[in-house]
Amino acid sequence: VIRCQSTNTDEPKTRNLLDNASNLLTSLLSGGGLGSMPIAEGAVSDLFGRPLFFSLYDWFLEHGSVYKLAFGPKAFVVISDPIVARHILRENAFSYDKGVLADILEPIMGKGLIPADLGIWKQRRRVIAPGFHSLYLEAMVKIFTDCSERSTLKFEQLLEREDSLGRNVIELDLEAEFSNLALDIIGLGVFNYDFGSVTKESPVIKETDVEKLQQRDYSNLKDASLLRFLVDMRGADADDGQLRDDLMTMLIAGHETTAAVLTWSIFLLAQNPSKMKKAQAEIDTVLGQGRPTFDLLKKLEYIRLIVVEALRLYPQPPLLIRRALKSDVLPGGYKGDKDGYAIPSGTDIFISLYNLHRSPYFWDSPNEFEPERFLVQRKNEEIEGWAGFDPSRSPGALYPNEIISDFAFLPFGGGPRKCVGDQFALMESTVALAMLLQKFDVELKASPELVELVTGATIHTKNGLWCKLRKRSNVH
Ligand code: HEM
Repeated sequence: VIRCQSTNTDEPKTRNLLDNASNLLTSLLSGGGLGSMPIAEGAVSDLFGRPLFFSLYDWFLEHGSVYKLAFGPKAFVVISDPIVARHILRENAFSYDKGVLADILEPIMGKGLIPADLGIWKQRRRVIAPGFHSLYLEAMVKIFTDCSERSTLKFEQLLEREDSLGRNVIELDLEAEFSNLALDIIGLGVFNYDFGSVTKESPVIKETDVEKLQQRDYSNLKDASLLRFLVDMRGADADDGQLRDDLMTMLIAGHETTAAVLTWSIFLLAQNPSKMKKAQAEIDTVLGQGRPTFDLLKKLEYIRLIVVEALRLYPQPPLLIRRALKSDVLPGGYKGDKDGYAIPSGTDIFISLYNLHRSPYFWDSPNEFEPERFLVQRKNEEIEGWAGFDPSRSPGALYPNEIISDFAFLPFGGGPRKCVGDQFALMESTVALAMLLQKFDVELKASPELVELVTGATIHTKNGLWCKLRKRSNVH
């Protein structure tokens, strides 16, 4: 029995007491609290020398789809189960915020949409999400094609130079090239600002670029950018600081992620020449030698599935991060933990997209690159509480998403905090990949095992994705 005499629930001591009481109650009423959860041990030494998400996968196979990971005094609950992920991301989404992630991102993204607490998020999501309307996306396709053409022209010129020396191949770090391309696109899409990094010698965001962005007279721009939209929509609730945070957040969110999905798409395709040929055959049929348009893009289905399959194998980011704002009880997962676990308020959580996307319980040949897998409907009715894969749940969807897979596949997250830029990113990646493969055959320069993975917010390579590019020989 906990007796509390204060009536002011905002007072920190009272709040603490109430939280403890509520944690205790949820723990008593549910099957078990964090105490009864499997614990991943021997953790810290395993964390060195390879990305964290690899270790989280091994522990998932060993301990199950909900386990506790302790780093000294700090503990995280790791989730690899669609039913539990659905609960945290959608059904009980407002009991969680971004926790550790918000702490890390605050200095760069401020109160932008990704780290924003629930109060600010509610106001800003309402204003920002409509910015991605279909006319905006249509205008963006032109930017995607213009920028991708700058890249392919650059590669053609490099090849011509080699040709004059009697060679028909160039070697390039395609990860760096995709990073430049994605930066140019997102600069134009968000700010109507051209970083011009594809054609510059040292393509990094320079202080001068940032200064120019800060000094612009935003009120006189005639363009299709998100900046223009947000300036026009600006109500009393957004000051200049908020606008800056929102736009910087989208610049960052849309840059590395797209560069990474293009990198891994090429990495996977280069190891599967027959799939590369199949992709090129689709491009020849749909585009011929022409450029993609908004309408033609819908017909590049195989290219889109390649992008989506690359996001399954290399999700960006590989982990979603949450912190419980109040105590909660997780639903039982698919593997018999029928009672679920009590989650005390303040618990830090990783939802491992990498584990979900490679779960042997939900995917056939989970580690194989098989874009065609999404065309095969899989019901999996024997898993209680999970509705299986069913495209009819999201008719007309541009890509196999979290609704179709009932949260087994989360390429852009799910629930209220799902990515606002999903269609932008998917169209952008489809255009960039199609325009590259329309013109060139791509091979890895060295063996794929030598491409080492590292992670920050996204999965990238340690030393670049070095490839050989040749002019296509088999154009139909
Ligand atoms: C959120 C993935 C591109 C803007 C997210 C989330 C994921 C994701 C998984 C959910 C994060 C969470 O729940 O913690 C991706 C991937 C992309 C991509 C894989 C590219 C392939 C973009 C682009 C933009 C963007 C191009 C903007 C132009 C955002 C924003 C959020 C978000 C603002 C936060 C949404 C909210 O909290 O309401 N993204 N994203 N993303 N993304 Fe993306």
